Amino acid sequence: MSPLDFSVEELDELLDLASDIEKSPEKYAHVCDDKRLATLFYEPSTRTRLSFEAAMMNLGGKVLGFSSADSSSAAKGESVADTIRVVSCYADICAMRHPKEGAPMVAAMHSRIPVINAGDGGHQHPTQTLTDLLTIRSLKGHFDNLTIGLCGDLKFGRTVHSLIEALVRYPNVRFVLISPEELRIPSYIRESVLEKSGCPYKEMERLEDAIPELDILYMTRVQRERFFNEEDYVRMKDFYVLDKVKLSLAKEDMQILHPLPRVNEIAVEVDNDPRAAYFKQAQYGVYVRMALILTLLEVKLPWR
Ligand code: CP
Repeated sequence: MSPLDFSVEELDELLDLASDIEKSPEKYAHVCDDKRLATLFYEPSTRTRLSFEAAMMNLGGKVLGFSSADSSSAAKGESVADTIRVVSCYADICAMRHPKEGAPMVAAMHSRIPVINAGDGGHQHPTQTLTDLLTIRSLKGHFDNLTIGLCGDLKFGRTVHSLIEALVRYPNVRFVLISPEELRIPSYIRESVLEKSGCPYKEMERLEDAIPELDILYMTRVQRERFFNEEDYVRMKDFYVLDKVKLSLAKEDMQILHPLPRVNEIAVEVDNDPRAAYFKQAQYGVYVRMALILTLLEVKLPWR
């Protein structure tokens, strides 16, 4: 699935469900007692895999899976299609992360159970987007009339691509795309998403120049694993560091998001600032994944 598989109304319903779970988690503690989630992770992960597993356990369900390609039969050459055919016999729903773009889509075509894309190469990271949307809505109360700065590796940052695609559907959202020349947003996002939707955006290089007008600052990591050569990565990796000095230029109610993991792009001294929302964001990731599992499994909730 992708957030774009949901209409704006369906997305609002999903976020409403996630907010209800946050408010009354005890109501949901046994609604998936008879269900199993498989986590098929061919690439490293902390938040996505563990938050999916926590989400299913919070619903009373069970989890199984693997956390690296090396510990699965992919290491012996098994295809994604064959793996998912087999996993369909063991679980009711699965979350897949894969370095190849489109792999979860291939899996979905051969699966008897819902397949959730938990990140595919430099392409998309839809459940991070759901997490980001829930975080923004919970902290700001709305999506419209927000100026959202996306900063860092906008070329390889799949979370950024998914977030733009989701947010252009809301009225009066504006983007400020802050990156060095080499890490600018891909042209397919600029042309087929931003320009096609008529969403206002501008591209800037200096974070200091962009920060005063932002309601949300979404920082990203320069992704070492997507670079073809180490020299380019080393040159780019510390291009942006959000510290207290730069933060002093921001609005009092700006919120700082980051999908994490962070490397150097947010100084640790920022963590205690009330605007630092990135660890809350990781918590919202559990609620929204609980809501997604319930929705995709069509679990009946008698009180809704
Ligand atoms: N945000 C995110 O996808 O983190 P992990 O790589 O740890 O899952």
